[in-house]
Amino acid sequence: MATAVEAATRATSPDRMNELLTEFGAGATPWPAAAGELCLRMVLPHVLPNVDRRLGTRAGRSLATLAGLAHDSTRGRRWKARLAHSRTLSTLYGELSQTSQGNELVAVLRAVLGSDDEVALAVDGLIVAACRATSVALSWSILLRAGWTPETPAGAVLQLPPVPSGDPLREALRLWPPAWLLHRDVRQSVAIGDRTAEPGGQVLVCVYLMHRRPEIWEDPESYRPERWIDPPERYRDAYLPFGLGPAACIGARFVTDVLTRCHQVINSAELRMIDSMPVLGPLCDPPRFALTLMDAGPAEPPIAATGRRSA
Ligand code: HEM
Repeated sequence: MATAVEAATRATSPDRMNELLTEFGAGATPWPAAAGELCLRMVLPHVLPNVDRRLGTRAGRSLATLAGLAHDSTRGRRWKARLAHSRTLSTLYGELSQTSQGNELVAVLRAVLGSDDEVALAVDGLIVAACRATSVALSWSILLRAGWTPETPAGAVLQLPPVPSGDPLREALRLWPPAWLLHRDVRQSVAIGDRTAEPGGQVLVCVYLMHRRPEIWEDPESYRPERWIDPPERYRDAYLPFGLGPAACIGARFVTDVLTRCHQVINSAELRMIDSMPVLGPLCDPPRFALTLMDAGPAEPPIAATGRRSA
């Protein structure tokens, strides 16, 4: 799965990224829904080449209703989201029954999972994981680069400055981690500090709070990408945007690539805030905004893994 999505970013040239941003990112659709559509256009042709265009349309609609649900979860909306999702699943199921030949990912999943409906669920999960969480992270990184703070009101207009030095992507994932709350069911007694978690209970790890611990991070509430040039000594124990251990995220490299490439091609843009506050649901969703591209093109030098621009 990781290989399939990583191939998608490798195949996306700066020009193609520019086209995708202009077509999907700068339209009427608010972010992060627009970013979800953008990720989908990158990922789908690589995960499922030669599939019917209807699948892209349906998966896009399903992602957009999911993104909308974060801000408005009335019963009608929830129903719409469920309907859009089951339409995607049934299209996916239909496509998969014709797509076994020559598609390595589908062949591997079928060998492991057996039935086509299990394979459809796995591919659907991959599309949602790859597009929804990444779109949230991308939106946060753009908002923070533009100077958004929790005091920014709805209706405010923000200008996107050049990519700051340091590591704006890691800093965005620190300050507003999309996966803000991890949980584990307890199967056997385990001591955690001076307390014991008993079987049947749950352990919750609030990544959002961990990333703001003043013992580790200087001025933790501030967006300071330059802190990553010389990160705090103990940060590895307290920085978990992609989880840790055997269940850690397999998509971290894809996410870093997509975010880096997007920031590289957006030289300047204007953001008009639709909401004022983030929403904590399954993901930590940013306030929605509309993006107008003022200048997009591969002018910025790449951001190196350390966050420093390479020469
Ligand atoms: C910014 C985007 C993303 C974030 C913040 C994120 C975060 C996470 C986190 C925190 C976990 C661990 C959950 C836990 O320990 O309970 C996880 C697991 C996982 N993620 Fe991601 N993820 C992102 C993007 C992706 C992408 C692009 C993919 C697809 C390639 C992906 C696929 C997965 C899978 C399959 C797992 C489960 C791994 C396992 O259980 O062995 N994620 N993700």
